[in-house]
Parts: sequence; C-alpha cells; structure tokens
Amino acid sequence: ALPADVETLIGQMTLEEKAGQLTLMAAAWAGGAATALNPPGKGGSFDDQLEQVRRGRLTGVFNGAGAEMARRMQTAAMRHQRIKIPLIFAADVIHGFRTVFPVPLGEAASFDLDLARRTARAAAVEASAAGIDWTFAPMVDIARDSRWGRTVEGAGEDVLLGVRMAKARVAGFQGKSLQDDDTVLSCAKHFAAYGAAESGLDYNTVNLSERVLRDVYLPPFKAALEAGSLSMMAAFNELSGIPATGNHWLMDEVLHGEWGFEGLVVSDYTGDLEMVAHGYAKDARDAARIAFLAGVDMSMQSGLYIQYLPDLVRSGDVPMARLDQAVRRVLAVKAKLGLFDDPFRRIDPKREKTRIRTPQMLSLSREAARSSIVMLKNEGDLLPLPRSGKRIALIGPFASGKHDLIGPWNVYGTDDQAVDLATGVKAAVKDPALVTATAGSDVEKPIDGGIEAAVAAANAADIVVLAIGEAQNMSGEAQARTSITIPAPQQELAEAVAATGKPMVILLKNGRALALEGAVADAPAILVTWFLGSESGPATADILFGEYGPSARLPVSFPFKSGQEPYYYAHKSTGRPNPPGELQPYKAHFRGVPNKARFAFGHGLTYGDMVYSALDIGTGRLDWNGALTVTATVTNQGTRKATEVVQLYIHDRAASITRPVRELKGFSRVELAPGASQRVTFTLKRDDLEFIGPDNLPTVEPGSFDIWIAPSAQDDGVNGSFELVRS
Ligand code: IFM
Repeated sequence: ALPADVETLIGQMTLEEKAGQLTLMAAAWAGGAATALNPPGKGGSFDDQLEQVRRGRLTGVFNGAGAEMARRMQTAAMRHQRIKIPLIFAADVIHGFRTVFPVPLGEAASFDLDLARRTARAAAVEASAAGIDWTFAPMVDIARDSRWGRTVEGAGEDVLLGVRMAKARVAGFQGKSLQDDDTVLSCAKHFAAYGAAESGLDYNTVNLSERVLRDVYLPPFKAALEAGSLSMMAAFNELSGIPATGNHWLMDEVLHGEWGFEGLVVSDYTGDLEMVAHGYAKDARDAARIAFLAGVDMSMQSGLYIQYLPDLVRSGDVPMARLDQAVRRVLAVKAKLGLFDDPFRRIDPKREKTRIRTPQMLSLSREAARSSIVMLKNEGDLLPLPRSGKRIALIGPFASGKHDLIGPWNVYGTDDQAVDLATGVKAAVKDPALVTATAGSDVEKPIDGGIEAAVAAANAADIVVLAIGEAQNMSGEAQARTSITIPAPQQELAEAVAATGKPMVILLKNGRALALEGAVADAPAILVTWFLGSESGPATADILFGEYGPSARLPVSFPFKSGQEPYYYAHKSTGRPNPPGELQPYKAHFRGVPNKARFAFGHGLTYGDMVYSALDIGTGRLDWNGALTVTATVTNQGTRKATEVVQLYIHDRAASITRPVRELKGFSRVELAPGASQRVTFTLKRDDLEFIGPDNLPTVEPGSFDIWIAPSAQDDGVNGSFELVRS
C-alpha cells in the first residue's frame, strides 16, 4: 500500500507535473544532452536541466556524474518544485561501478550464485554512495546466438542458469531493504526476447511463438520479479509484429495481470519514438500514446511523455486513470526507496570517496575474476605453469597494456585503474625478467613486422602465452558480428607462433562464444578469460600458475563453425538426428561439421581429474506428488584440489510438444581434495518437468525421461532413466 500522502500528491499535481514524473533524461552534467526535451540549439546544459527539475518536468536523470551532481539536482527539486517530489538517479551499473567485476556472461560461467549476489551487492554499495538509486541491471535476456553483441551482458543460453543468476543479481542489488542507503533498485531488462533478434543483429525483428517465449525467454523476468525487482525495461525489438514497447499483451496482461508485477516499466532509451521507424506508430505523438497505453510508465530520453501526454489526456486519447496509475507506480517506487523520507539518503560526497575501490572490493573483484575463467583444454597438464626457471613469452594484442580489461558497458570504471596481464604475470613469477610481452598484431589489423617479432619472442622462450580474441568494443550494444571467429590477423599470428613448436597456452578475450579454428583450437591449453575487470591480470595469473584452480563452466556453447549459430545445447531433435561422432548423409548437420559444439555448454576442466560413477535413481519412479532423489559419486582422481560443477540434465522422450535433447535441471559446485569422493544429490519434482503445452499454458505430462549427471551438456557422465507416474 502506498503512503497516504502519495495519493494526496497525485491529487494536487497538474498534467504537466504528472508527465514530468514519467520523464527520465540522460544527465547533462558533463556537457549537455541533445534530446527532444532539450533539442540542439535550445539548451541541454546542466543549468537547463536544473531548470527542468525546478519546473517539475523531470522525474530524474541517468548515468550522471556522482554525488555532487545529485546533491545539486536534488536540492533544486526540494527547494524549488511546486510539489516537492524527490528525483530518482539511475545508472547502468552492469558489472561493477568503480570496482569492476567480470562481464555478466563471464561471471555466469562461475555457476556461483552467491558470488553473483555478492558482486551485485558490492556494486550497489559503491553506486549508492555516489547518489545512485536505481541500476538498469540485471540484463536477463537469454542469448542463443553469439553473433548478438549483448550476449556479454547476460547469463548466456540456458533458462535455469538465467533464472538463478537473475534472482541472485536482483537479491544483491536490492540487499535487505530498498530503504537502506547502500541499496539500489534493480531493473530486469529487456522485456522481452531482445536476445532472440533474427541473425543476432542488434535491434532486429523477433519472431517467436508464444510457447517459446514463455518456455525460454520469459522465465528469467519472472524470476527477477519474484526476487523483488520493482522495475523492468521494455525491449527495443518488435515481438512477432508488435514492438515490445507498444505491446499491451506483454506488459499489461502478462507482467501486471498474470504475474502481479507492482513496479514500473521504463522504455529503453528512445524505444517509444522508435516505434515510428518500426512502422507501428504514425508519428511521435502516436508513439507516446501507444507506448503509454501499452504499459510503459516512464519514457527514457525521447521526451515524448512530457511533450505529448498532457495533451493526449486533454484530448481524451489517454484516460486520466492511466496517467494516475503510472504516476502512482513511479511514486510508489520512490517511496519504497525511502526517497520521500530522505531525498538525500544516497547522496553523500564524503561516503562516495570512502566506499569505492576498497581492498575488500578489489579482493572480491579478483575472486570473481578467477572464478569466471573457464579452462577448455589442458593437454599433457601444460597448466598450471611453473613460477620459476622458465622464460615466458606473453604474445598478442592483450599481452600487456591498459586496454580491454574492464569490458564493455561499464560507465564508471576505467581500464587505467585495472591491472593488465603482463603486470599480473610478472608479480606471480619468481623472476619477472624472464617474462616478455609482444603484441604481434592489433586486434583487427596486422602490425608491420609484428608476426616476425612474435615468432622471435616465442623462439626465445620456453612457454608461450598467447592472449588473443575480441577487443571490448566488439561486444555489447550494436556490436553484432557476422562471424564469431578470432579476427584474421590474430589467427595468422596464432598459426605463426604455433609453428615454432613451443608449448602454447591460449588466453581468450571474448564477450560471446567463439568458433575456434586452426592453431587456436589445436593449442594444448586454452583458457576463456572474457573481460575480467579491475583485477584481470592478477586473477589470470592466479589460475595460470595454480594458486587457484579453474572451476568455471561455459554458459554458452562454443560451436565448431560460426555458421552453426544460433547453436545452443537445448535444441530440439530433428526427425533425422545425426549419430554422435558421425557425419551421415541425409542427416541433420552442416556439410563436414557435426551437429554439436566444439566446447559444450557446461564444459570446463579443473586441475583435478574428475570421475563420475554410481548413479542412483532409486526406484526410477517419480510419483505425481512425490520427489525423486538422484545421486552420483564424483571422485577427484587427480593430485590437486578442485571444484567441480556437477550438472543434472533431463530429456523428455515423448511429449505433446517436442522437448529439447537435454535440459539443465540442477547444478552444484563441489570442492574435492585429491583422492576425495562425494555423493552429489539432486531432487526432482513434478514442477521441474513442466513445460509450456499446446494451449500455451504450463503443463506436466507423465512418461519416460532420460537423465544425466554429467560435467557438461555433451558429456554422457552417468545416465539412466525414470518415469513420471500420475498417481
Ligand atoms: O540501460 C540501457 C539499455 O540496456 C540500452 N539502451 C540504453 C539504456 C540506458 O543507458
């Protein structure tokens, strides 16, 4: 229930003031934003924005410049507005604030929910100290086509991992109570199915059946809501012919109606105005009307609501009740954030200086970074590397230098404050003079004489560490790639360095799955290091030299060839599945390529040697209202301690709607000393077998299921079957 004075406030507000509460703009502190509200030539400076605040024409700003800016704006609101309603300060705090954590896709690789909660909590602590009330995170879009650049911002391709990461991240951002001064409101985005863009092209058309939408793309949003997220961001894309921003069914019927969402929906930037380009709205006024009636409560950056809503209400095109409903939602959120009690509760320039980049934050960043590194290969136990007595050549565009460390979409961190690979490696070895660093190539362009220098460096070393992949501006918004391979000049570099015959460890930088080929795929050791954040170099060295073991798993499938995209493990079987390991004619596979991943979802090696045995499914019968306990033994037959992510998959053999070849239904991180064994137990209930049925409603059907407890989606692990029996 709202505090009584919110209703009183609504009663006193003019139409313009109401529309102002629904209007969010990029902060103009650092230079002036040209927008519909402040078009070029008509201002857009910080002073102009202060004037908008005084006149009650802004609900708040986003991506501003910290506590001092927020203090000045909030003071203007509280002193000069006719009806004093505190501003809300929003920001894209995606993977850390000043302390930067791994990109969300990388962190999802940890399969460590508590870690995801703790990094979100830490980001909230830093951001809230800088006056921020609201983060535009987490991004919970399922991403099954790695050509899509924004794959980097989410938890990857899997529904269960996506659901669990969404919950953990919302819990971390929102902490114990939204009233706390170290809490930020989260915003699950982008509602909905943004990740299903045709061919992975950002902003592109999405055509989905309602069934697939509900089965795959909506669950993480529902999970975010269940975890308490009180805001959602409408997606840029159209969804089966209707832009998400104008989609009444999605926002009003599903989100508010079915799910009982009580928060607010904000447009994604100028998504409302973009409905004109989509060919859905006639003009800007029409776009404002459509978005608003469909359920977008707050308009970001287009200025459409302040410009058109008052008149739309006056003309009867928009009912006053809808306007009041949206204002009520916004004020309710501001009230829940404690802003009416104390508009300055998160604005404290002193706290801003002391709460950031503390030793504890940086140590958490290093922990998160090393927990995100996935070891794809380690032939002949090349890793971990010795700390002494060996000459190490770091080669590649990411071998050294203050660039491409923090990753895309970090508004407040800087590469300058992050630690690079060469620094991390030199600090980890006994004799730093034995470590050299040579670029060999730029990311997408050859360097004159680069390959020759790299080959010479490799020849002069005992071990090569080749740091290659994508620059950070190659993933993120609007960074779709037609091919997810290593850029050609770096592939050439890899071929030349591999030809020296020196033992070679590949370190991949990437914000998506990559299709590895040639010398890169054939290298004896490969680590996926994503973009790891503030402590990138030291965390990579932690794993390289065995201070810690790798424990992360791929949250996206790495295909053999780029052309397999969209490739995801939970695909359906065709009527002509190709037997594993074969390439049969007239069976489903691309020419010369098996219909599977080179490195599967869930794959990741450890410095241990894990063996799965002794699957126990009890009677193999799951009663309708009962539970099935499934257990297997995992043994570390290696000589080093290791953390294994044990995964439970099922396959519904026959159903009224065909089901994926495998679906993840559980995972558990298990730490095992050398020689140690553990029984790992999962419990399955009827609800775990639910899917969206022929009538687009959730259903569960009795029948036979295959089951695996395995180290990846493509590994047989230990397996069997069970029956779900309607009793
Ligand atoms: O939060 C982002 C969104 O993810 C992409 N468009 C801009 C928004 C605000 O910066």
